[in-house]
Amino acid sequence: MFKTNNINKNDYILAIETSCDDTSVAIYSPTHYDVVTISSAKEQSNFGGVVPELASRRHENNLLLALEKLFKKNKINFNNIQKIAYTCCPGLKVCVNMGKIFAETLSFLHKKPIIPINHIHAHLFSFALNNKIEYPFIGLVASGGHTSIYYVKSIKEILLLNETIDDAIGEVYDKVGRKFNLKYPCGPAIDELYNKDKNNISFINKKIKSEDAFSFSGLKSQVINYINKNSNCDMVEVLSSFQKTIINIVVNKIKYYSNLYKTKNIVIGGGVAANNLLREELNDQQFNLKLPIKSICGDNALMIALLAYLSNI
Ligand code: KG4
Ligand code: ZN
Repeated sequence: MFKTNNINKNDYILAIETSCDDTSVAIYSPTHYDVVTISSAKEQSNFGGVVPELASRRHENNLLLALEKLFKKNKINFNNIQKIAYTCCPGLKVCVNMGKIFAETLSFLHKKPIIPINHIHAHLFSFALNNKIEYPFIGLVASGGHTSIYYVKSIKEILLLNETIDDAIGEVYDKVGRKFNLKYPCGPAIDELYNKDKNNISFINKKIKSEDAFSFSGLKSQVINYINKNSNCDMVEVLSSFQKTIINIVVNKIKYYSNLYKTKNIVIGGGVAANNLLREELNDQQFNLKLPIKSICGDNALMIALLAYLSNI
C-alpha cells in the first residue's frame, strides 16, 4: 500500500512504535516507505479498553515477527538501515519500554545511531507524508490518550496552546460507544453510523469559552446519563448528536486559535483525525487544511520514522 518507485535501498530509517496496543515497525526514505503493524486491539476489546500488561506481552511476541515481515516484504536487511528511531514518550510505560529495549538492542548489535521520538509530535507531523509543510501552523492532535492544540513555528518550536484537563476525545468516543455495546475502539463505528438528520439532542447547555482548556468529561457524563435514563433511546440519534457536539467543540477551538495566531495553516493528526465529520467541518472553513492519509492517523511506526527523518534534515 505504501510502496513508491525509485527505491534507494541504503538510506532507510527504521522505526519502532509500541506506545499502546499496536506493535508497529516501519522503514522510511523519501523515495520508499512501508509499515507493518500487528494490533492487539481486537483482543483488548474483550476488556473494553487497553490492558497495559496484555499489550506489553503482545509487543514482546510481535516485535520480531513484524520486523521480519517488513524486511522480507521489502527485501532488505540491516545493511540498508541508517538509523533506528523509536517512540520514547508518552505512552503506557510497560509498552513504551518494550519498544525502547528492542530498539536499543538492535542499535547496539548493528551499530546504528538511535533517535528517540515523541509520539504526539509524530502524530502532529503525520500530514507531512503526503503534504508540504508550511510554517507556522496550528495543529490538533486528537487521539485515545490526547487532545491538544499546538502552534508550530518549526520542527523545533512546538508550542502547546491547549490540552484536555480530563478525558481525551477518543476516550470519550470509546466510553460512549461502549454504552451501546460497540466494540473497542468505538470511534470508527460512531463515525460510520453518523446521520446528520438525526442530530436532534442538544447535550451541552453551558457556554464554552474559546480560551478554556478542553474538557470532555461533562459531555461524556451527559450522554451516558441520557442513555441510562432513556433505555429505549435511538442509538443513531444519541451518537449522531454526541458526535456533532464534540466535533463542534474541537472545530470552534481551532477557529479561535487560527484567528488568534493569524494563520490559516491547519493540520490534524491522531486516531480521531480519521473522523469524516471533523474533516468535512474543517474543510468547510477557509483553512489551508492538511490532512494525514487515514491509514496513518492511528498509531503507527511510519509517523515515527517520518518525524525522525524530518528532524534530521
Ligand atoms: O492515535 P490512536 O490510534 O491511539 C492513541 O494514541 O490514543 O487513537 C485511537 C483513538 C480511539 O479512541 C478511537 O476510538 C479513535 O482514535 N478513533 C476515532 C476514529 N478512528 C479512531 N474517533 C472518531 N472517529 C474515527 N473515525
Ligand atoms: Zn497515538
